[in-house]
Amino acid sequence: MLDTTLAIQTETPLGMISPRLYGHFAEHLGRCCYDGMWLGNRSGDVPLQNGFRADVLAALRALPVPLLRWPGGCYADHYHWRDGIGPAAERPVRLGMSCGLQVEDDNSLGTHEFLWLCAQIGAEPYLAGNVGSGTPQELCDWMEYCNTAVRTTLGRMRAANGAPEPFGVRLWGVGNENWGCGGNYDAASYAREYVRYATMLRHVDPSAELVVCGYDDSWNAALLTTIGRHIAMVDHISIHCYWVNGGPETEFGEAEYYALLAEAHATEAFVERTAAILHDATGGLRRVGIALDEWGVWHPEARTWGPSTSLPRMPVTYEQANTLRDGLAAAVALEGFHRQCGVLSMANLAQVVNVLQAPVMTDGAAMWLTPTYHALRLHAPHIGATALPVAVEHGTSLDDGASAVSACASRSAAGLAVTLINRHYSQPASVRLRCGGASGDMAGLLLASASPRDGNSAAAPDRVAPAPISATPDGAGAWRVELPPHSLATLALTAG
Ligand code: AHR
Repeated sequence: MLDTTLAIQTETPLGMISPRLYGHFAEHLGRCCYDGMWLGNRSGDVPLQNGFRADVLAALRALPVPLLRWPGGCYADHYHWRDGIGPAAERPVRLGMSCGLQVEDDNSLGTHEFLWLCAQIGAEPYLAGNVGSGTPQELCDWMEYCNTAVRTTLGRMRAANGAPEPFGVRLWGVGNENWGCGGNYDAASYAREYVRYATMLRHVDPSAELVVCGYDDSWNAALLTTIGRHIAMVDHISIHCYWVNGGPETEFGEAEYYALLAEAHATEAFVERTAAILHDATGGLRRVGIALDEWGVWHPEARTWGPSTSLPRMPVTYEQANTLRDGLAAAVALEGFHRQCGVLSMANLAQVVNVLQAPVMTDGAAMWLTPTYHALRLHAPHIGATALPVAVEHGTSLDDGASAVSACASRSAAGLAVTLINRHYSQPASVRLRCGGASGDMAGLLLASASPRDGNSAAAPDRVAPAPISATPDGAGAWRVELPPHSLATLALTAG
């Protein structure tokens, strides 16, 4: 049994945990948008709301999904927004292209449908624009179509298509992975292209927030150097972080279990390095947020690149199994997001339904929630709350230096909440939680299972699901709770 003491430091808040840190990503890739969320008029025996699966809408609303990025990903740099407006029957059928897939794309899920979805589930929309095969004019037109209150031809077209009021979309990505699928630019060429796009976009809607495409440290440094005096054109810099070193999706061993958690933990260091590069480039004079707008685990079964101990499932559809280990990895990353809430302006898990580390899966009429869904759901009390540091006063360290038991805490009008992770593969943990001066009952939900390889499926949708847990008082301002190995729990303090 591990013995750990953690102390919540209420006197030194880290900042607000923006709802944007709990964002998601929906790409026209595999069965994420088409089939996963959107069936259009192909209902069958699945209840729909405005063409979207009603069960998926309810699950996303409950998660919650405060921010949703769309339509790509790599898809964005092939997407022409005009294809997705107007009567569905008149929309062109295009070659849907992302990540090597080529599918028939009937454009039935377009701008109005996506923005309706966002309104339904309470998500802020984040639109990714086309640089690779688009023009500044095309992206300016999309922004004008969505946001103008002036009765221009585009504004009237939006009204004729059912939206008389501007949508007011604030977040706009200027391309996606333009170092790769978005045009294979070098950093300086893309930087010049970005400044051209951003200059024009600022004229259309000066209140829009623009996201420049970042990549690794050297790209980011070169990008910002070329942008130079035009840095005011940049509101956020996009970086992506996929974890690829955890071995097979389900049949992993102990070393691979720890490898994935260590990789998730290291996401924070990438954010810190990016923050340092931004600081060097701007002299600290301009606040540019870091948009980690794709993150999560990408198992070898769902890719044809990167390190691999198992073969991809052919053809690659970007669908993968999701186990308790994946949920724990997400929770490890979220701890870092909270700590970096001063520099990290958004984060979008890839992807929201059926693709990669999806919280929600569907198969025909069936829908189930993955351990990643439950891990995120357990973090809901932290969204919009004030992050509080948690010090490890006593405990065991893992090989990567991380504490075997770690935590994030926050304070909101609802009170104090703490999420604990026992990262240890095989040992339970007895955790003493100190929160000076506090009193009351501490109870909440535990996410645990016999094996970290356990997951849910259509046949066993609740194999890994939260269960009640409570802590017992352990001296003044302290509680004790026992966590099973490889588990996660959120406890809330009800003031006594
Ligand atoms: O999320 C899948 C793909 O990963 C996205 O389309 C792309 O941006 C990234 O390479």
